[in-house]
Amino acid sequence: MTALQLTGSKEQLFTETVRQQLDSWISKYPPGQVQSAVIPALHILQNAHDGWLSEGVMRALAEYLDVPAISIFEVATFYSMFELTPVGKHKINVCTNISCQLCGSQQIVEHLQKRLGIGFGETTLDGKFTLKEVECLGACVGAPMLLLDRDYHELLTPEKIDAILDGVK
Ligand code: FES
Repeated sequence: MTALQLTGSKEQLFTETVRQQLDSWISKYPPGQVQSAVIPALHILQNAHDGWLSEGVMRALAEYLDVPAISIFEVATFYSMFELTPVGKHKINVCTNISCQLCGSQQIVEHLQKRLGIGFGETTLDGKFTLKEVECLGACVGAPMLLLDRDYHELLTPEKIDAILDGVK
């Protein structure tokens, strides 16, 4: 857990809007099943905090849900969709799993790394893009593919990637 950092006061971490969103998810589950709300809660908090989850945010969530902090950490550290360190404004998740690999993901990765000037797990100097390698995203029929923020882009070519990145503000 050395990558985790404490940031912000609890008041800053839980705005009224965030509380409403959390409460909405918590209310979907029976009493005693609040643990089921952890994944959507982490999404809410990550979206509300520049795309990543500090240790302070996760501890505050544990307190809010009245669950042990470890039960938050173990979810946040298991799924690649949660970030434990600061990321760029836009996150590019490139699938390199078997279907994408067979359809040329290596060429896609090389093109992205060359164009952005970064490797996996890194962020461009202007803070615009973070590049990540991920496992199968369930879009094998469109291999090779990537997930840019919340949008899937499939049947990629270097030219298609250039057009996609050129369109990102
Ligand atoms: S292997 Fe890439 S989406 Fe399934």
